Amino acid sequence: MVRVLKATPEAVAEGARLLREGRLVAFPTETVYGLGADAFNPLAVARIFEVKNRPEFDPIIVHIADPAQLPDLVREIPETARRLIEKFWPGPLTLILPKTEKVPDIVTAGLPTVAVRMPAHPVALALIRAAGRPVAAPSANPFGYLSPTTAEHVLAQLDGKVDLILDGGPCPVGVESTVLDLTADVPTVLRPGGLAVEDIEAVVGPVRVAAGPADRPRSPGQLARHYSPRTPLVLFSDRAYPDPRGRRAGLLLFRRPARIPEGFAAVEWLSETGDLREAAADLFAALHRLDRAKLDIIFAERVPEVGLGRAIMDRLRKAAAPAVDGPGPLNG
Ligand code: TXA
Ligand code: MG
Repeated sequence: MVRVLKATPEAVAEGARLLREGRLVAFPTETVYGLGADAFNPLAVARIFEVKNRPEFDPIIVHIADPAQLPDLVREIPETARRLIEKFWPGPLTLILPKTEKVPDIVTAGLPTVAVRMPAHPVALALIRAAGRPVAAPSANPFGYLSPTTAEHVLAQLDGKVDLILDGGPCPVGVESTVLDLTADVPTVLRPGGLAVEDIEAVVGPVRVAAGPADRPRSPGQLARHYSPRTPLVLFSDRAYPDPRGRRAGLLLFRRPARIPEGFAAVEWLSETGDLREAAADLFAALHRLDRAKLDIIFAERVPEVGLGRAIMDRLRKAAAPAVDGPGPLNG
């Protein structure tokens, strides 16, 4: 059974130690409980997806304890962001901004933007501060369940799957943060939440509220601008390598091959041993690398569709789908 500790300073220090070791710690915020991992540790973040049992990757909010941590995470802080931060942080407002290279691709599910917030909860702030790094955390519920607002909810839903639950009592706000995209032409609310849209508008003027399901998909994984390689990508099954002849072809393998296959301009493997968590942690970064290698085509090996393998295959299938406005696959 997972340890549930009342969030004393000692327990928070223990949680911070676990985070630094790449383990998962559930912790209270003012909105809902989060399932935290070191935001700069791709393997730890991959484990979040494993524990949440999501069939797809979803970008994760990065939590900070001080706006001074922002330059590590975002490339620029526009004036609107400064005003909103001044007024509403710490609090239930998540800002989407262009990410730095330092933010692992798995945190943002390959997007060039990152979601950041500074939570208004003493335990969350103490934990992030003690960890000495930003903490990536989705709500601490398995896929398809309600967000937890007490430590008991987390225990009931994730028992045995997290390394520690810090009990800070019920969450005062009780709904997730408002997610505001500041990279669009007009600030756009992607998810209404704990901070009212009217309060945001009082500071930055009119904002757009993404409306219908097409406008605000359940997961930004479905957004058209969601990262997909520009290079045509074709899936293949293990054992039979595709034929690279006549093309500048890239090969994306699940595990390290016994011998590097010949004829490919680039060969990458997602894991040394065929470990799905390791594969998930490197997936987006590997796709980015291959996409920059000026290839005609990428052949990507299917992975087993169990555990994180489902999310990996979901992403690979989306990457393989013919682009609507991009170049089509060269070989049909
Ligand atoms: O209150 C909250 O926001 C809680 C606590 C733990 O902070 N967290 C939370 O995380 O609700 P999660 O993962 O359940 O929801 C995060 C939302 C998702 O809808 C996700 O798609 C969106 O934020 N999101 C994250 N990064 C994004 C990005 N770069 N672009 C667009 N949407 C993003
Ligand atoms: Mg959630």
